[in-house]
Amino acid sequence: MGTCSDKGWTYHSLTKGHHPPKVMSWPLALCLFTLVVLNQKTALGQTMNTFQSERREWPLNHVTVHQSTGTLYIGAVNRIYKLSANLTLLVSHDTGPEYDNKACYPPLIVQPCSEPLASTDNVNKLLLIDYSHNRLLACGSLYQGICKLMRLDDLFILVEPTHKKEHYLSSDNQTGTMYGVVVPSQGQDATLYIGTAVGGKQDYFPTISSRKLPRDPESSAMLDYELHTDFVSSLIKIPSDTLALVAHFDIYYIYGFSSGSFVYFMTVQPETPENGMPAGGSPGDLFYTSRIIRLCKGDKKFHSYVSLPVGCVHRGEEFRLLQAAYLSKAGRVLAKSLNISSQEDILFAVFSKGQKQYHDPSDHSALCIFTIQAINIRIKERLQSCYQGEGNLELHWLLGKDVQCTKAPVPIDDHFCGLDINQPLGGSQLVSGQTVFTERRERLTSVTSYIYNGHNVVFLGTRSGRLKKTLKASPSLVLITLNPVL
Ligand SMILES: *[C@@H]1O[C@H](CO)[C@@H](O)[C@H](O)[C@H]1NC(C)=O
Ligand SMILES: *[C@@H]1O[C@H](CO)[C@@H](O)[C@H](O)[C@H]1NC(C)=O
Ligand SMILES: *[C@@H]1O[C@H](CO)[C@@H](O)[C@H](O)[C@H]1NC(C)=O
Repeated sequence: MGTCSDKGWTYHSLTKGHHPPKVMSWPLALCLFTLVVLNQKTALGQTMNTFQSERREWPLNHVTVHQSTGTLYIGAVNRIYKLSANLTLLVSHDTGPEYDNKACYPPLIVQPCSEPLASTDNVNKLLLIDYSHNRLLACGSLYQGICKLMRLDDLFILVEPTHKKEHYLSSDNQTGTMYGVVVPSQGQDATLYIGTAVGGKQDYFPTISSRKLPRDPESSAMLDYELHTDFVSSLIKIPSDTLALVAHFDIYYIYGFSSGSFVYFMTVQPETPENGMPAGGSPGDLFYTSRIIRLCKGDKKFHSYVSLPVGCVHRGEEFRLLQAAYLSKAGRVLAKSLNISSQEDILFAVFSKGQKQYHDPSDHSALCIFTIQAINIRIKERLQSCYQGEGNLELHWLLGKDVQCTKAPVPIDDHFCGLDINQPLGGSQLVSGQTVFTERRERLTSVTSYIYNGHNVVFLGTRSGRLKKTLKASPSLVLITLNPVL
């Protein structure tokens, strides 16, 4: 087995025993070229069907599983695939390579560009199902990052909007730097929340924004910011001053989800210390931190933006570089041990040790559990203390300076969505998860989970593609780290 790139997807689907073949499916980021279906004998490592990307150099970037049909949609380099739950290829759609140059604005399809064009791979950056309108949103890296809306049935292109600046999401071609969350709305337009690395083009692309996903694919409002005025908008840009101080500053969006009335993103980004930023420096000198960002659904002004550092600490060692995360319900057994109800959302997250090497993370890594309830409590406490007038907003990369919290006598409950003061709000106190597993020799790079007989079964993918199987049952959790031979 050769080397594997770090951020890709291998696919596993598990069929539960004798029940009618309700196929359960979990994407797992591993080594990139093959999808594997495992049946209930998974624990014994028996594989059944596989799906391979057309070419080794065109890895699979994203897998999305339709929640009711079990159909798989796969975003790869230069391809979008639709597969049945048993990994039979149903439809293949070409997205590249095409002639492009990252320096061309706007894309050539609109106006010619004087830069030399070269055949360029289209890396799938985002693959999401818009359940309220039965369509697939697929965004790539070509042409400054344009998107297609496709019919779920046959991948027929409903629309590929390219005539406005808002249609270009980011030309950054690294996977694992952009994440999106679709918030459906019954009978109405859905909303797309999107966070992306901007690759030095901070004036052009917001780091985070919310966009309209109108029911009518032809709508001229497609992908428009939810709100865009001179004073308030549904977007945040990285100030150019921040890049002047930290040359390689960017925010990498590793995961996102919606829970209750909020949308969350999990990022990795350079630390920007309170007492001024480090001068210049190479990316290797920077300290990175993982953060969780929370926004209220429906908050078009982004006044609810709160961001706190996340990680976990185990026997004095800090795990601060997020590799992957997965939102799940707590199974009966785990819920009991966490003292929460089994309907509650929990987050499995894998982190690599330390804070320095974002680009080459340590193999020493950990699986941690967070309850969303505990994260929300920490955010509420942070809001309450700031509205008491204590301390600063602590969001240096965005505000560029210390801004004091303003005392204001407003009640802050679980549903508080911000005012025009004390926002956007950062923080420096770590939100710590509970460490449940550590691995020293092979970096954990992906995590997914399902509930079986009241137990959370957690699959952990590791960096290499070598076969490795650990079955570790603890009273409340079944952990399986498993890399099929590819
Ligand atoms: C896989 O699923 C497809 C469609 O659901 C079905 O037609 C086909 O027979 C299945 N193939 C196998 C090998 O089970
Ligand atoms: C991303 O772009 C850079 C330069 O434009 C190129 O060298 C690299 O191969 C690209 N990566 C992928 C995965 O296409
Ligand atoms: C469990 O949660 C309940 C209600 O949230 C609380 O009253 C109780 O003290 C908690 N028990 C433990 C052991 O933390």
